[in-house]
Amino acid sequence: MALLLWLIWPILVLAVDQSKFRTCEQTSFCRRFRAYTKEVSTQQAALPSPVHSASEVLVEGHKVSAKIVHRYGESAQLEPLTLQLQFFRSQQSCGVVRFTLEHEPSTGRSSVVRRSVVEPAGPLEPDEVVAATVEGGTTFTSKSGACAVLLRHQPFQLEIFRDGLLLQTFNARHFLNYELPRHGRATESPRPVGPPLDAADLDPRFLWEESFDQFVDRRPGPTGRGFDVSFAESMALVGLAEHATSLHLGKFQEPYRLYNLDVFEYEVDVPMALYGAIPFVTCVQRSGASGLLALNPSEGFVQVDASNATESWWIFETGPLELYFFLGPSVTDVLQQYHTVTGLPRMPPLAALGKHQSRWNYITPEDVMEVSRNFDRHGIPLDFLWLDLEHTHGKRYFTWDPKHFPLPEVETMLDSLNRTHRKLVTIIDPHLFANDSNYTVANLFKEKKLVVQKPSGEDFHGFCWPGPSVYPDFCSPEARAEWAKLFDFKAYPGRPAELYTWNDMNEPSVFDGPEITLPKDTRHHCGDEILEHREVHNLYGFWVQEASVQGHLLRQPEQRPFVLTRSFFAGSHRHGAAWTGDNMANWRHLERSVPMLLSLSLCGLSLAGADVAGFMGDPDLELFVRWHQLGIWYPFYRAHAHLTSKRREPWIFGTTVLEKVRSAVLTRYRLLPMWYTLAAEWALLGLPMIRPIWYHDLQDTQAFQHADSHFFVGDALLVRAPETGKSVKLYLPGNSSWYDFWDPSSIRPSGSYKEPLHKHHVPVFVRSGHCLVQRWRPRRSSGAMEGDPYTVVCYGQPATGRVYIDDGRSHEYQKGAYIFDEITLDFNALRGTASTLDKTKRAASAPSVERRIERLVLLGMTKIPKQITKGEETLDFSIDSQPERTSAVDLTVRKPGLSFGSSWSIHFH
Ligand code: NOJ
Repeated sequence: MALLLWLIWPILVLAVDQSKFRTCEQTSFCRRFRAYTKEVSTQQAALPSPVHSASEVLVEGHKVSAKIVHRYGESAQLEPLTLQLQFFRSQQSCGVVRFTLEHEPSTGRSSVVRRSVVEPAGPLEPDEVVAATVEGGTTFTSKSGACAVLLRHQPFQLEIFRDGLLLQTFNARHFLNYELPRHGRATESPRPVGPPLDAADLDPRFLWEESFDQFVDRRPGPTGRGFDVSFAESMALVGLAEHATSLHLGKFQEPYRLYNLDVFEYEVDVPMALYGAIPFVTCVQRSGASGLLALNPSEGFVQVDASNATESWWIFETGPLELYFFLGPSVTDVLQQYHTVTGLPRMPPLAALGKHQSRWNYITPEDVMEVSRNFDRHGIPLDFLWLDLEHTHGKRYFTWDPKHFPLPEVETMLDSLNRTHRKLVTIIDPHLFANDSNYTVANLFKEKKLVVQKPSGEDFHGFCWPGPSVYPDFCSPEARAEWAKLFDFKAYPGRPAELYTWNDMNEPSVFDGPEITLPKDTRHHCGDEILEHREVHNLYGFWVQEASVQGHLLRQPEQRPFVLTRSFFAGSHRHGAAWTGDNMANWRHLERSVPMLLSLSLCGLSLAGADVAGFMGDPDLELFVRWHQLGIWYPFYRAHAHLTSKRREPWIFGTTVLEKVRSAVLTRYRLLPMWYTLAAEWALLGLPMIRPIWYHDLQDTQAFQHADSHFFVGDALLVRAPETGKSVKLYLPGNSSWYDFWDPSSIRPSGSYKEPLHKHHVPVFVRSGHCLVQRWRPRRSSGAMEGDPYTVVCYGQPATGRVYIDDGRSHEYQKGAYIFDEITLDFNALRGTASTLDKTKRAASAPSVERRIERLVLLGMTKIPKQITKGEETLDFSIDSQPERTSAVDLTVRKPGLSFGSSWSIHFH
C-alpha cells in the first residue's frame, strides 16, 4: 500500500510537501545556535561578551597549535579546546590552511571523514611558516608566498590574508560555539545563572531527545559546532551545492540547509536541503577570490548575509570542526586548492559526454533496441541508454526481471548495443530487499553484519522501492569491498560489456524514516570506530558511488568507470557524475538548472546535468525543445522522465520538433572534441567545465547581474538560457568581440542586447580570440566518430585554443598516452604545439588514435593572404565570406595535411 501511495503521490501533489522537512526553527541545534548568535550580537556592546581566548601558542614547521579557552567573566570556564593550524602548498605556491578545533582527548571521528575525503587526494605538501608577535596576537606567514594568518588572542579571532589583503575573518562576531555534554548534567537543566557559555546553555531543551513528524531522535547530548566567517569586500559568495536557488548566496532569512534528502519534486528558490551537500564556498572579490571548506558530513545550516560585506554563520550538529581556508588569489586558484585537498576528478569515458537517453522505464530489451534503432532512423546520435528500476527482479538490484528482461535477451541486447558503440546503464540503489531469503545480495550483507544497525545492534529495516529493506553499512570498508565484488559478471548476471551504473536514492532514501532517510541514531561500523548515522549522514551517498566505482574497476580494470550519483559530498567528483534529481517539467526548473549546475561546477562537480526536459510532468513542445537546446550545453546531457509521464523520445512529436532536437544533438557531437578537452582540463587540472558569466572578467561588475541566466562553457563559449517568449536580455561580458556561434558572420562588441530567440537554438556566442576543435561528420555515436578527422575553427585573429585527445576509454592517459596541443593563431601563422597537461609527467607515449586535421576554418582574418604555405608546400584555401565594410575575411583550408600530436605550422603571406 505504501508503495502504491508512493507511485501515485506525484499525481496527487504538485510540489514538495515542505512540512516533511525540518527548518532551522524546527531543529534544536540550529534554533539554539541562531538564538545564541542574537544573544552574542546584542550583548556585545554592553557586556564583556562571551569570549574565547587563545593561549599557549606554539609553532613548529608548518603547524601552529594553541589552547582556546571559553570564559565568561572570571568564574565560568570550560575545558580548553585544542586549536591547530596547518599550512600547505597547492600548485607550487602557498594557499591552503587547515584549521581544526578539538576537545581532548581527540576522537577518531575526524579521521573517518578525513580518510574518505582528504587522504585519497595524496599527502598535502607542508608549507613552513614564520611567526611574528604583533599587538594582541601572532602572525604566521608562509615561507613560500604571501599567505598569512593573524591569530588574535583576546578575543580569539583569525584573520586570513593574501598579499596583505584581508580575505576572511573567523570568529569576527564571536559566534564560536563548541558544545560539550557537561559532566554532572545528566538531564536537561534550567539555564544556569549568568550569561551562556554556549548555545546549549541558552536553550537547554531537546539536548538529549527531540521529536519531529512523529519521529523521536535520542542523541548523546549537545554537540553543536558553530562559527562565523566574514568575507571582506565580497561581490558574490557561491557554492554550498546543492540548492535550487540563485548562484549568488545570501537571499534568504532561512539558512541554507545541508542534509542529503530525497526531496521529490523539489521547489525552486528555497534554501531547503536537497540530495547532495558540499559545504564549500568561494568568495569572489574584485581583486580575486578565497574559499572555505567545512569538512563536516553531519547536518548543517549556513546563514549568509550578503547585504554588508558578506557575513556568514555555520552550524553543524556534531562531528569534527575541521575547516580549510583557500587563499586564492583567483577563483581558479581557489578551485585548484580545493582539489589539492579533496583530489582531482575522475576522467570520464569520452562517450559520457555524448547524449544519454533514459526514462522510467524502458520496459523490455526490445523496447531498448527499438529506441536505439529509432535514434539511427532519425539521424540523432546517441551513446547511452538507461534502465531504471523496472529492469530488476522486483527491485532486487544486481538482478534482471525474468519476465521482462530474460537473460538471453539481455545478453543479445548488450551485444548489439555494444556493436553499435552504444552503452547501457542500469540503476543500482543501496536499499536491499530484506524479505526474500533467496536474495543473495541482501543475505550477504546481513550475514556478515555489514548493514546499518539500530542502536540495539539489530539490523535496521526501512521501507523503500522493494518493500522492507536493509541498508549496507557503506561507512565500513569491508561493506564497500563486498559491494564492489557484486559488479563482477560472475555475480551480476550479464556478460562482459559496456555496462555502467546509476546510484539513485543514496541519501539514503527511507520512505518510512524521519525526513525520508535513516534515523540519526542508527549505527555504522567504520573500521575501528562505531559512529552514529548523524555523524556521517552526508557521506553515505559518496561511499555508495565510491564502492560502485571500485566495483567497475575490479570487474573491468582496463575500462574507465562511469557511475552517476544522486547524493554527494565534498570529494564526490573523484567518483563520477551527478545529476540534480527530481526536477519538474516547467520553465522555473529549466531556469534554475543553470545556477544549480554552475554551483556544482564551482564545488568541483562539473560533470553534472539536470533531467531534460524535466523529470516530473509532461513538457509542452516549446519547453521540450528549448530544454534540449539548453541541455546540449550541460556537461552531462541526459533525457529522463518519470514513470507516469508520457513517452517523449524526440520523434514522437512530429518532424518540426524532431528536426530541432536532431540539430541540437548534432551540435553537441560536433563539439565533442571541445567537451572532451574541457573534461580533461577538469580531471587533470581541476578547472570547471562550465563557469559563471563573471568568471573571466571580475572587473565587469554588470556581468554579476546575469549570473543565473548566462554561463561559459570553457573559456570561449557563452550560453544564454532560454525563456518563454520571443526574445531575451543578453549580456556579452568583458571587453571583446563576440561571434554568434550559429552565424559567425555576425560579430558584435560586449554589451547588453535584446536578443530575438531563434527557433532552432538558444543564444550562444564565441569570444573572439579562441579556436575550437570540432568533428564535423555526423555519426550515430561518439564511438563511431573515432576514425574521423578534426576541424579547427578559429574566431578572430589572433586566437588560441587547446585540444586533448586520448583513446577515450582506458587509463593509459595516466601514463602519458594522450595528446594535448596548444593552437596559436597570430598574424603570420597558425601553429600547433604539442604540450602536456601535467608538467611533471614523462613525455607522452602516443595513443593510437585518429589525429588528422581535415579542415581549418579561420573566421575574421584581418586580411586575405596572398598565399598560405606549409613548409615548401602551398595550400589551397577558399574565401567563405568577406563581411561588408571591413577588410576581415573568413577562409577555409581543406586537407591541410596536418595532424595533432606533433608540432606543426602554416604561414600566411
Ligand atoms: C528517483 C530518481 O530521482 C529518478 O530519477 C528515478 O527515475 C526514480 N527514483 C526511480 O528509480
